[in-house]
Amino acid sequence: MDKFLVLFLSLLLLAVHGRAEYSEDDKLRIVEDLVSWDVEDEYEAEDSANTFWDSERSAKVLVNLDSFGAAGDGISDDTEAFLKAWKTACSTSNSVFLVPPGRRYLVNATRFKGPCADNLIIQIDGTIVAPDEPSNWDPQLPRIWLDFSKLNGVIFQGNGVIDGSGGKWWASSCKKNKTNPCRAAPSALTIDSSSSVKVKGLTIQNSQQMNFVISRCNSVRISEVLVSCPGDSPNTDGIHISESTNVVLQDSKIGTGDDCVSIVNASSNIKMKRIYCGPGHGISIGSLGKDNTTAIVTKVVLDTAFLKETTNGLRIKTWQGGSGYVRAVRFENVQLQEVANPIIIDQFYCDSPTACQNQTSAVKISQIMYRNITGTTKSEEAIKFACSDTVPCSNIVLSNVNLERKDGTVETYCNSAEGFGYGVVHPSADCLSSQDKGCITSDVIKSVVATEPELDHIVHTEL
Ligand SMILES: *[C@@H]1O[C@H](CO)[C@@H](O)[C@H](O)[C@H]1NC(C)=O
Ligand SMILES: *[C@@H]1O[C@H](CO)[C@@H](O)[C@H](O)[C@H]1NC(C)=O
Ligand SMILES: *[C@@H]1O[C@H](CO)[C@@H](O)[C@H](O)[C@H]1NC(C)=O
Ligand SMILES: *[C@@H]1O[C@H](CO)[C@@H](O)[C@H](O)[C@H]1NC(C)=O
Ligand SMILES: *[C@@H]1O[C@H](CO)[C@@H](O)[C@H](O)[C@H]1NC(C)=O
Ligand SMILES: *[C@@H]1O[C@H](CO)[C@@H](O)[C@H](O)[C@H]1NC(C)=O
Repeated sequence: MDKFLVLFLSLLLLAVHGRAEYSEDDKLRIVEDLVSWDVEDEYEAEDSANTFWDSERSAKVLVNLDSFGAAGDGISDDTEAFLKAWKTACSTSNSVFLVPPGRRYLVNATRFKGPCADNLIIQIDGTIVAPDEPSNWDPQLPRIWLDFSKLNGVIFQGNGVIDGSGGKWWASSCKKNKTNPCRAAPSALTIDSSSSVKVKGLTIQNSQQMNFVISRCNSVRISEVLVSCPGDSPNTDGIHISESTNVVLQDSKIGTGDDCVSIVNASSNIKMKRIYCGPGHGISIGSLGKDNTTAIVTKVVLDTAFLKETTNGLRIKTWQGGSGYVRAVRFENVQLQEVANPIIIDQFYCDSPTACQNQTSAVKISQIMYRNITGTTKSEEAIKFACSDTVPCSNIVLSNVNLERKDGTVETYCNSAEGFGYGVVHPSADCLSSQDKGCITSDVIKSVVATEPELDHIVHTEL
């Protein structure tokens, strides 16, 4: 950072109100730490190499599902054809596994296993549908529908649709009807234990439970994906990232009945860019730490997002009793419209039929930045930091946050949360610098216009 920036930051931070828990030097260092890194987008430079197979037809070996006996009528069981075509495509270099356009292929729960020969492209232009009857689901595969594993350097692309036919699964969920037993349901598309994977342009919809799971992967880029489920379909997370590193998710639209994106244990270097979310439960880190487990999530950036009428906006959720940490997270350039809990850290998360007890252990949350976050809140508590009494949240930074409520005041709730704000912060971040537990700062005065202070401008250019 240059001297002028340091001077400017110092002057600005000196003007921060409230009982400063952090020295001005601390604040400066914290802000620097929070903005001095970015998640590398290793694919950005090689966009032209995004081989649409048409352009390289000569070099490719087409493996057309229809040549393997698929009926594509949406009624006949095409599982065998899929498996045979997969066997051929996976074992042949430069092949294109083609799901042709204009047809519907009914497929059971299936594992598509790698490793495969080089340069496999999975071109999905038609529709793949799941059988809709939960009672006929393969009991050996309760959590999956289309599961791809151990792939390296594979591209999934096309204008096709992956449709989980989830209606009956949703109706039989214990979230819908408390008399139903709580049981697992399949995820529509899973990419597991893979590396250097690209996914572009697909639509994933009506999943039985989670729509698209990335687990145990390294280096994944998802772009121009559409995820769609009804707003009241239970547990239908849009994109769920678990035990994965270097994941870029961009230019995607997600509307669902649970989190648009959820990022859980052992994930780091995750970047989400230009995301539309709604309906849904927002963009979540967590839940983490269930059943006293250890969870670690680091280096997550959400940059440029629009969230519409979601129940949460930018959320971190952990269960009491967990351990591990969430560290180095930036939520920036986000616009929210009529969101119920726009900014929320909930360390008392409890998504179980029985009440959860408070415990002394918790997942530690620190170095979380919210900057340039604007829009409207449905609830009065526009900003909520409900942190563990024994493991406080620390280094929470708010900069240029402006949340309004149509007819009413807005407030910030803090429990055991430490941090500070600079620039415009509405409702005020004062409770972050107070030692009180369960403290609220309420802004009665309507906020000033959210002009972008120079500080933010300067810091942006430092990236
Ligand atoms: C697909 O699932 C149905 C219902 O369990 C079963 O009858 C059918 O044999 C399965 N198809 C294949 C190819 O395994
Ligand atoms: C819940 O499920 C039970 C048992 O299947 C059924 O009798 C009841 O009508 C259902 N309730 C609702 C509200 O759907
Ligand atoms: C968290 O991730 C680590 C590393 O992959 C793994 O060993 C551990 O089992 C995971 N914990 C849970 C609760 O899934
Ligand atoms: C978690 O730890 C607490 C405190 O030690 C214990 O009471 C509880 O039974 C544990 N829960 C699980 C699911 O292991
Ligand atoms: C703030 O975020 C909005 C998107 O929500 C974006 O249009 C605007 O350019 C951002 N402002 C700055 C200064 O980055
Ligand atoms: C757990 O602690 C929080 C914060 O002190 C408190 O608001 C909540 O009521 C407690 N929950 C239980 C079940 O004791």
